[in-house]
Amino acid sequence: MNTKDWLEHFDDLDDDDKLNGALQTGRRLRNPGRHPKKLPMSDQQFVHKQDDSRSTFKFTYKAARFEEWWLLDSLGSFYEHKWISDVMRRVKGGKEASVYQCKPGAEVDVPWLAVKVYRPRSLRNLKNDQQYRVGRVDLDEDGSALWKQADVNAIAKRTNYGEEVRHTSWIAYEFKTLELLYESGADVPKPFAMEKNSILMEFVGDAVTAAPPLSSISLDEEEAKYLFDRTIRNIDIMLARGRIHGDLSAYNILYWDGEIKLIDFPQVVIPASNPASWNIFQRDVIRICQYFSAQGLRCEPGKLAADLWTSHGHKIFKEVDPKYLDPERPEDRKAWVKQNK
Ligand SMILES: Nc1ncnc2c1ncn2[C@@H]1O[C@H](COP(=O)(O)OP(=O)(O)OP(=O)(O)O)[C@@H](O)[C@H]1O
Ligand SMILES: [Mg+2]
Repeated sequence: MNTKDWLEHFDDLDDDDKLNGALQTGRRLRNPGRHPKKLPMSDQQFVHKQDDSRSTFKFTYKAARFEEWWLLDSLGSFYEHKWISDVMRRVKGGKEASVYQCKPGAEVDVPWLAVKVYRPRSLRNLKNDQQYRVGRVDLDEDGSALWKQADVNAIAKRTNYGEEVRHTSWIAYEFKTLELLYESGADVPKPFAMEKNSILMEFVGDAVTAAPPLSSISLDEEEAKYLFDRTIRNIDIMLARGRIHGDLSAYNILYWDGEIKLIDFPQVVIPASNPASWNIFQRDVIRICQYFSAQGLRCEPGKLAADLWTSHGHKIFKEVDPKYLDPERPEDRKAWVKQNK
C-alpha cells in the first residue's frame, strides 16, 4: 500500500459525526473503525519520516490520530519556515477542507492565522469542478502555469498522478486569487503561503471567536446598505481583475467588526475564456441579492448583474434568461435580438 492508499484507508473520516464528535470534545477516536492495527512496512516508514522531520512540531489542538498525521504532513513546512508556531483549534471541518486557527511564527506579524487544509484528494467530496476549470490554465504548487507537457497530459488522461496535479491546481487557484484580490484592495484575508495541500492566510476573528458567516447575521438597514455596497464593490474589483468568484453567497462572506471578508476561491472563473461565465456570474449576484433582500434591501439582481457585467466590456451570452432583460435598455434589447437570431 502506498502512502496515498494508506491515507484513503482511513475512510472513517467520512463518518463526519463520529469525527466531529471526537474533535469537539478534544478526544481521540476511541474506536477508530477500520484503523489497521499494524501498519504495513512502507506506511510505518511514512509515519516515521513524519515524526523525524517534524519532531519539534507539537500542537495544542488535540487532533484525532489520522488528522494529526495529516496536519503534520500538510503544515510541517509552514512550521519549519516559522510561519506558524502552533495549531490552536479546528474552526470548521468540511467535506472538502478543514480550517484551523494557528498561532503565528516569528516570520508573521498578525495576531492569528487561519490555515485551510484540504483533505486527501480522493477523500474530498469532489465537486464537479469541470465547469469552473474551462478556460483556466492549470497551475503547479508554486502557482505558476504548468509547463511540463507530461503534467498536462496526465491531467487530461486522469491518471492518479494527473489527479494529484489537478488537486494542487485547484488549491493554487484559491491562493493566487487571494493574492491578486488582496493586492487589488478587495476585502479578502491576507494570504501568506501555500503548500500543495494547504493555504495559510490571515485569521478573521480574535483569540476566542472566529468570524461567523454573513448568512448567520441579521443586519439593520444602515448596515445592510453599507455591506451590500461593499459586496458589490468587491464583485466589481473581481471583474476588473478578470475573475468571478463562482460560489459567492452569504455563506462565503465572513462578518467581523461591521466589515466583511470574502473567502473560498478555488472554483474562481475567468470570464474571458469560460463560455458559462455569464451564467455563473448571474448566479453569484442572485445569491448575494437573496441575502440582502432578506435583510430588507431592494435588489434587482438581473439588472445589477447585467450592469456590472457589461460595464467591464463583457457581452451577455445567449443563455441569459429573458426575465432578466429589460426592454427599456438598449443593450438588453440588443442581447434579446442576438440570442433569438
Ligand atoms: N481566514 C479565515 N478566518 C476565519 N475563519 C475562516 C477563514 N477562512 C475560512 N474560515 C472558516 O472556515 C469555513 C470554511 O471555509 P471555506 O468556505 O473556505 O471552506 P469550504 O471547504 O468551502 O467549506 P464550506 O463547504 O463550509 O464552504 C468558513 O465558513 C469559516 O467559518
Ligand atoms: Mg465555503
